[in-house]
Amino acid sequence: MKYYSGTFEQLKEKVAQALTPDRYQHCLRVSQTAKSLAEQNGVDPEQAAVAGLVHDYAKQRPDQDFIQVIKAKHLDPDLLNWNNAIWHGVVGAEMIHDELGITDPGILQAVRDHTTGAGASMSTLSKIIFMADYIEPGRDFPGVDEARKLTEQNLDLGVTYQLQHTVAYLVEGGRPVYPASFLAYNYWIRQTQH
Ligand SMILES: [Fe+2]
Ligand SMILES: [Fe+2]
Repeated sequence: MKYYSGTFEQLKEKVAQALTPDRYQHCLRVSQTAKSLAEQNGVDPEQAAVAGLVHDYAKQRPDQDFIQVIKAKHLDPDLLNWNNAIWHGVVGAEMIHDELGITDPGILQAVRDHTTGAGASMSTLSKIIFMADYIEPGRDFPGVDEARKLTEQNLDLGVTYQLQHTVAYLVEGGRPVYPASFLAYNYWIRQTQH
C-alpha cells in the first residue's frame, strides 16, 4: 500500500525543505530504524518508513503556527499550556495531514504518540516510531545501548524503558510531565514489571 501521493523521493524533498540538514538526517535514520523494527514486529515496513520520515516534519515551526492550528481545529485546549516538545507531534500530525497529504490514521497517530507515548491504545506502529526516534544510530546518551537491547528483545520493554527515563528526567529537572505521558508510564510499568 502507498501512503502518500507522488514518489518517496518527492516526499523526502518536502520534509527536507521543512528542516535543517541535521534534523532531516535524523528523520532519515528514524525512517530506516522504523523499517527494520517493522520487519521484526509484523508491521508494514513501508508504513513505518513513511511515519519515521515525517515524524518531526513540524519540529521547526514557530509557536504561533501550532497555536493557530490548536484553535482552528478545536484541539484539546490544554495543549495551549504546553510547548514545541509536545506540539510537534500532537499538533504536527495535523500539518502532516494538511500539507503533506498523508491521511493514513495509523501514521498520523504514530506521529502524535511520538512526543507523549500512550498506554493501552498504543499501536505497534506507534511503539515502533516512539522507539526508532529514541534509538536511531545517531543517538548517543547514557542508556541508549540498554534501550536498543530491550527494544530488540521486545518493543514493550523499550517503550517502558523510554517512558521511565523520560519521566524521571523531567521530574529531576522540576519540569512538568504531559498528562498522557504519566498515564502511559503507569500503564507500561504495570504491564512489563511483575
Ligand atoms: Fe520529535
Ligand atoms: Fe525525532
